[in-house]
Amino acid sequence: MCTCCINYCLLKLMYLMYSKRGIWIGSGYLTACFGLMVGSEGHAVGVEHIPELVASSFRNIENSAAALLLKEGSLQVHVGDGRLGWPDFAPYDAIHVGAAAQEIPQSLIDQLKPGGRLVIPVGNIFQDLKIVDKKLDGTVTVRNEASVRFVPLTSREAQLRDY
Ligand SMILES: C[S@@+](CC[C@H](N)C(=O)[O-])C[C@H]1O[C@@H](n2cnc3c(N)ncnc32)[C@H](O)[C@@H]1O
Repeated sequence: MCTCCINYCLLKLMYLMYSKRGIWIGSGYLTACFGLMVGSEGHAVGVEHIPELVASSFRNIENSAAALLLKEGSLQVHVGDGRLGWPDFAPYDAIHVGAAAQEIPQSLIDQLKPGGRLVIPVGNIFQDLKIVDKKLDGTVTVRNEASVRFVPLTSREAQLRDY
C-alpha cells in the first residue's frame, strides 16, 4: 500500500461493516481483505490495469485464506481501466479507489448503489480524500475527509511510460 492514512482506513472499515458488494480499484490485496470480510454471501471485485499485477494477485490469493472465495467467484480480480469501474456487478455498496484521480469518474458514481459510498483520492501533488455518498433518493454528496498522497489513477500507457 503506497499511502497509509489512519482516518482513511478507520473510515473505510466502519463503513464496510454495512457493505456486501464492493469494488476495489487498483488493488488485489484490499479486494481479498474485503472478500474475507463479506464472505461467500458478499461480492468483492478488484480492477487493476496491469495484467502482471492481476496475475500475481491470483497467485497470492490462491495461497491465502481467500482462495475458496476466488474459486467460488464471490471474489474476483479483473484486468481493466478502473476509471470505468466494473459495470457487470454494479451497483456497489462500497467503491474504493487506491490511486489519485484527476476528477471523480462519473462511471464510478453511476455504479454506486443508493445508500452506498465511494472513497477516492483526487488531485495531483496536493490530493484530497473524497467521500462520495449516494443517498437513498439518488442525490450525491461529496466531502473532503483528509489530505493524502497516492500514485495517479491513469492510463496503463501513461503509467508504464512514467516508470
Ligand atoms: C499504490 S497501488 C494501490 C495498492 C493497494 N492499496 C493495495 O493495497 O494493494 C495503485 C494501483 O493502482 C493501479 N492503477 C492506476 N491507474 C489505474 C487504472 N486506471 N485502473 C486500474 N488500476 C489502476 C496501479 O497499477 C497500482 O497497482
